[in-house]
Amino acid sequence: MTATAKINLGGKDYSLPVVKGTLNELAIDISKLREQTGYITLDDGFGNTGSCTSAITYIDGDKGILRYRGYPIEELAEKSTFIETAWTIIWGRLPTQTELRHFSLLLTEHELIHEGLRHHFDGFPIDAPPMAILSAMIQAMSCYDNALLSNHLNDEEFEGAAAKLISKVRTIAAAAYKMSTGRPIIYAVPEYGYVNNFLHMMFTLPNRPYIADPDIVKALNLILILHADHEQNCSTSAVRTIASGGANLFASASAGVSALWGNLHGGANQAVVEMLEEIRKTRTSVKDFVEKVKRKENGIKLMGFGHRVYKNFDPRSKILQEVASKVLQKQGQSDELLDIAQELAEIALKDDYFIQRKLYPNVDFYSGITLKAIGIPLNMFTVMFAIGRMPGWIANWKEVHDNPKQKIYRPRQIYMGEDTRHYVPIDTRTDLRLS
Ligand code: ACO
Repeated sequence: MTATAKINLGGKDYSLPVVKGTLNELAIDISKLREQTGYITLDDGFGNTGSCTSAITYIDGDKGILRYRGYPIEELAEKSTFIETAWTIIWGRLPTQTELRHFSLLLTEHELIHEGLRHHFDGFPIDAPPMAILSAMIQAMSCYDNALLSNHLNDEEFEGAAAKLISKVRTIAAAAYKMSTGRPIIYAVPEYGYVNNFLHMMFTLPNRPYIADPDIVKALNLILILHADHEQNCSTSAVRTIASGGANLFASASAGVSALWGNLHGGANQAVVEMLEEIRKTRTSVKDFVEKVKRKENGIKLMGFGHRVYKNFDPRSKILQEVASKVLQKQGQSDELLDIAQELAEIALKDDYFIQRKLYPNVDFYSGITLKAIGIPLNMFTVMFAIGRMPGWIANWKEVHDNPKQKIYRPRQIYMGEDTRHYVPIDTRTDLRLS
């Protein structure tokens, strides 16, 4: 029997269909509610709204479960590489050797940027934020291949466009960093793997090659895997919204970068390290800092804590906590920031304020510390998140693109502004600021 939900509005009963997900997640389908009743639903921030059905990522926020295409994040983190995971997220299953080799070759083919595109970097000031550069350059990239601007790509074109984005986003990110340091751009080495190549383009100097430590390559692979998708978060929802209007993959991915930039989303990894450094610099006790957060003094938050979906623990932060400690050890770096982070977590996790609100460390709590230990500069942290999230945005764009019944995303609102009022000539208007 198909389940229905009953709703009584103005004394009249209505039945609404219930939708059940693969793992028994339940939703009331309200798509015909307005037509039938004149009502819409109101859910500021979409905390309780399913905007789509999707087969990409599964999260159980109460149990701390995250799976890409059914594969547990813990298994992918231990056994996979970022590129294999990216393929899996985009095409829906683990690739065969031939498929993975073919995709790797495509990535190599697209690893350079067009000389014309390279000149765009000269237009940015030296201290331009790398996230602004990345978003702008992804849009600019699309101008060099008009065939990919279509919102109706065949399989081969789509694969080429996906490879282009995943490969070039890393080249652009490294080039943006080089430009900001006033140093020459370093070209990719075709024989290097994806992450190794990124580190090479970031850290090689004309007179000093950078040989990446395999453990550091592994740690960065892992960070990218953990960021690769996370269902309908702020940036992915932005990508899907834009895709639903028929915009091409590049326009949609560029919007994803812009959406990710904010402090409450991808910008949190940078904000966490800034917070930890501030605590260290000002010699504030961790206890006092937590008290300030609880008093909401100047609106401060414990950055890297809390999540819209995880109300138990974020499985990514568990994995990253261990990695952060290993990378710090490997680099022989002081782990003062990690110590402050651990103390913050310990105090917060026992405190009623955080317990009642179900606030736990999220992925950003430890990722910033790990990126810092790897040597990634602070203003590049959110760019690293964007490189990692690219497969998720691409897969979500594809899901919208491939759906023949896809409607344009167009939420409604409840208007709370002025009722009708009438135009008055300017010379008869009272200036309230002067009266
Ligand atoms: N520190 C202190 N208090 C917090 C925190 C925090 N990090 N997060 C939430 N709260 C409090 C809120 O002030 C609110 O308190 P109230 O009930 O007294 O008003 C309560 O917990 C509920 O918080 P909301 O903001 O309603 O929760 P929401 O689900 O909207 O927000 C978010 C989730 C944005 C992640 C929030 O927890 C936050 O701002 N965290 C810090 C920023 C951060 O780490 N962002 C990264 C998220 S992961 C990602 O995007 C990759």
